[in-house]
Amino acid sequence: MMALPYPETERCFTVRLPESDDFDGWREAARALVQSDVPPERVVWVEPGGSGDLFGQDGGDLPSPPSDARPVRANRRFLSLASDAALHSDIQRFALLYRLLWRLQERPRLMEDKTDPDVRRAEELAKNVRRDSHKMHAFVRFRLVESDEDEAGEHYIAWFEPEHHIVRANAGFFMRRFANMKWSILTPRGCLHWDGETMSEGPPAQRFDAPSGDPTEDLWRKYYASIFNPARLKVGAMLREMPRKYWKNMPETALIPELVAGAQKRESQMVAAGALEFDERPETLPAIEEAIRRCRQCPIGKLDNRAVMGEGPRDAALMIVGEQPGDQEDQSGRPFIGPAGQLLDRHLERAGIVRETSYLTNAVKHFKFEPRGKRRLHRSPTAKEIDTCRWWLESERALVQPQLVLALGASAARGMLGRTVSISKVRGEPIALEDGSELWITAHPSYLLRLDGEAREKQAALFDADLAAVRERLDELAGA
Ligand code: URA
Repeated sequence: MMALPYPETERCFTVRLPESDDFDGWREAARALVQSDVPPERVVWVEPGGSGDLFGQDGGDLPSPPSDARPVRANRRFLSLASDAALHSDIQRFALLYRLLWRLQERPRLMEDKTDPDVRRAEELAKNVRRDSHKMHAFVRFRLVESDEDEAGEHYIAWFEPEHHIVRANAGFFMRRFANMKWSILTPRGCLHWDGETMSEGPPAQRFDAPSGDPTEDLWRKYYASIFNPARLKVGAMLREMPRKYWKNMPETALIPELVAGAQKRESQMVAAGALEFDERPETLPAIEEAIRRCRQCPIGKLDNRAVMGEGPRDAALMIVGEQPGDQEDQSGRPFIGPAGQLLDRHLERAGIVRETSYLTNAVKHFKFEPRGKRRLHRSPTAKEIDTCRWWLESERALVQPQLVLALGASAARGMLGRTVSISKVRGEPIALEDGSELWITAHPSYLLRLDGEAREKQAALFDADLAAVRERLDELAGA
């Protein structure tokens, strides 16, 4: 028998990932390593362009776990965080994630420990990655490069410089958003090409590979000038959101000095005309709660009621959106605890969706009612009232970042989309949202409460089917 160069219990493994954003590859290797009982200090993770095996002991192949190895413990919270953090440009990220996975086997609730340095670092990495994706969504600007009516047609090219390995992960977003255009996004971390039907990838590009300046830039400038809201102008916040390094790729930024100069004047005109004025987005859920308590942007906020904030985990994978608090919700200050909420609970349970791990909120944060003697009769919010309150719903969504949003009824759907849709036409199918999450729309449980007999049964079955589809999708997203 040939002697092994190192005893099996001391052997080091080098995992070479073929791509810097290869989360699935990391996951597969990590599973085999955990099941083979290989501690983090004996694993070296190498990505393309990495420096190789620091210990000079190239372990080569991955270990083969014993056939009776225990399944690896990795909850949804960890997987969701890890899939984002894995795209960070920090070379230590894969080792950090493996250390967390290893520790999770003994401490299943580790991810809840916000003081743990590994958990905190992983959260920080994931947050940076999400921020980079958000910037890519917001700041990619296409320029027209070729117009050949008969042959290739118009082709648009954009240049973007991501800080992390986010290009491939965002391909779906741009494909859905610009499905009918032919475009390329060039970046120093690789390129995406969409020909209207298929997506392909290319090697890293350089700044001069992309054109600069074309007639469509005037359109961007006009668009930007028209959406520019002087009442929201905060130069510090603007620079934080749109750092100067992105300016050179964005035609509309040429307008900024001019717009800033005119902002004060336009702001006083808007205030005089009674137009809306919201501040910067709150950065925490308690800050939103405090702000909605003071919100008087529409007539509902001026009634004798209280603001009802959403409730649920800050990192819930599922956000459920209702219309507005009802009488009981208004009295208790909690969403979905009255009759509609109780019916919702029963259907959620039937579908296997756990209310406590979901974030429940409403499109409108105050109860709209009409006093009738001692009673307060529910009144539906108008489209304008829902649209006004979208600011808060979007603020909650930006913080919770659910993978999936379930809108209950037409008001909730409008709160999410900013337009009115017909429930029967859109239910049961996901709608892609700009941040890469999905919106599913179904009926509101109070609609079921208003029905009897066969009609109720029929609608209840449709409701159950929608919830079952949501549950299935959540499982898929969690990689279960
Ligand atoms: N109906 C809703 O839409 N939301 C609630 O919170 C309660 C009832």
